[in-house]
This record gives sequence, structure tokens and C-alpha cells, in this order.
Amino acid sequence: MTAPRILQIGPITPVLDAKLATLYNVHPLWKEADPAAYLAAHGPEFAAIATHVRHACKADLIKALPNAKAIVNFGVGYDAIDVPAAKAHGMQVSNTPNVLNDCVADIAMGLLIDVARGLSTTDRFVRAGGWLKGQRPLMTKVSGKKLGLLGYGMIGQAIARRAAGFQMTIRYHTRKPVEGSPHEHVASLVELAQWADFLVVACVGGPSTRHLVSADVLKALGPQGILVNIARGSVVDEAALVAALAAGDLGGAGLDVFENEPNVPAALLAMDNVVLLSHIAGFTRESRLGMEQLVCDNLDAFFKTGKVLTPV
Ligand code: 8YV
Repeated sequence: MTAPRILQIGPITPVLDAKLATLYNVHPLWKEADPAAYLAAHGPEFAAIATHVRHACKADLIKALPNAKAIVNFGVGYDAIDVPAAKAHGMQVSNTPNVLNDCVADIAMGLLIDVARGLSTTDRFVRAGGWLKGQRPLMTKVSGKKLGLLGYGMIGQAIARRAAGFQMTIRYHTRKPVEGSPHEHVASLVELAQWADFLVVACVGGPSTRHLVSADVLKALGPQGILVNIARGSVVDEAALVAALAAGDLGGAGLDVFENEPNVPAALLAMDNVVLLSHIAGFTRESRLGMEQLVCDNLDAFFKTGKVLTPV
């Protein structure tokens, strides 16, 4: 039997790229000088698409593959994929949920503690010999505080469990309350930010959540408030965030994601009350193994049963 033909939009991970190439008849689209011309000539050959959260998978590409019926994504986030276009085209879309919840939630807590207690900035202070001359300013206690969560899916709930271990009071904002949650749902994000000491962004990216964390939300979080974002840069109005931090209207921010990665606004680089990461929340050997396996499992299930395992 000939292996199914798969279009891979861009590199995923070296291990997975190699594995997919042994299991399927994979074509690496990123190696084409003129991808649109290639697709116009070869689009009908492909039965599925394999991709990574970093690579755009838009309507024109989807339409160029009339016989592809699945988009298998490496990543829990799928904002780079035009899901409505894929579904209208009769394609299933899968992501890699759950295998990275713990690692992302760990980083959310790490960023929160780092900003509140000044770990990174104290590290810089010690390395620069600052301790030989004095001591750092007092910082903010983490345990027992009020944590607002924007988004309460599996990652939001994993953050809530950790925060509960820090004796925090937790409330969350989603479009609809989540049944059975021990925590209070707040219908207005501004109200949640007003109440919270810390606001953690853990919702999906894409058009439905773009700039939900607006100037008004940041103002409500206030000069002592801390924002943490481990979701997508698009959820936060980055210009408003920079302005709020510069004006002292927001206490600090811990950011793993940005609007225009890998570009980080120069103003943030110069601020000591922000901690900046390079989209590493899911970046562990353990999470990566789980994600690679789930991409393989989704493709395998799709070709054997006609259905991906973890549809979005
Ligand atoms: C990245 C993520 O995929 O899963 C997601 O949606 O944003 C991350 O886990 C990962 O860090 C890329 O290697």
C-alpha cells in the first residue's frame, strides 16, 4: 500500500519531521520557491496537512487542496489556522490538548512569582554586584492573593489548582460559566481585573479574543496589579500594555507571548517590572514528546478511522 500524501507547511520539530517522513509521503511546502504555484499544480495530491502553531494555514492554502480532509496541528493553540474555512471545506482540524497543560501552568505561576517577588531583576542585581552595595526594594507577597483568570479551559484550570495551593482566591472570566467549577464566574472582564491582584491570560487566541485585555482592563488591574500572559500575544493590546506600564498605571507584567513574535517592543526591554520569555511555556522535553506523539496519533486515527482523535 502506498503511504498517504501529506503536505507539511513548515518544519515542526526535527524528531517529528523525520518520523512523519518515514510514515507518510510528506511534501515540505516551505522548501518550495513558489508555494502557490506548487499548490496550483499539485494541490489535489494531498490527503492531509501537518502543521505547527507558528505556520499560517489560511483559506487560500486550504482551498488549493480539494482532497485533503484533515489539518493536524502541533500545538494546543490553532489561531494560525483558518478553522471556519477548513470546516467549510469539509476538513477536520486537530490540535494537541492536555499534553502541555502542566508545563504551561507551571510557567504561569513562575512568571507570577518572578514579577511579584522580582526574581529575574534580583538575579541581575546580584550579578552586577548590587548586593555588595545595598539591598533590593520590598516586593509583593504572592500567597493568599486574588487571582483572576481570563479563560478557564484545561490550562486555566491547571493554573487555578496551583493558585489554590498558594491559598489564593480565584475567579474567572469566560463567555459562559463553566459547570461544576468551585470558583466564581465574573461576567465582566473589567470587574474581574478590578477585583484581582493578578490577572492571568489563559484563553484561546484569534479574532474572538483579540485585544480583550484593553486599556480599560489594565487600568482596572491598577498600579499594584500584575498581568501574566501565557496564551497568545493577540489577546492583549500590547500598545496599551506598554503605555500602562510606562505611566505606572500597572504594577508589572510577565509575558511568554507577544503580538508580533519574535519581536518584543523596545520599551518593554528597558523595564525592570516585566519578565519577558520567548514563548517557552510548552517548551519541555516532556510536553514536546506528548505533542509529537499526539500529532502522529491524530494522523494515524484519521487514516485508519476517518476521524482525528482531538478535533477542535
Ligand atoms: C508551542 C503553543 O506550540 O501549543 C501551543 O499552542 O503555543 C506552544 O506549546 C510550542 O512552544 C512550540 O514549540
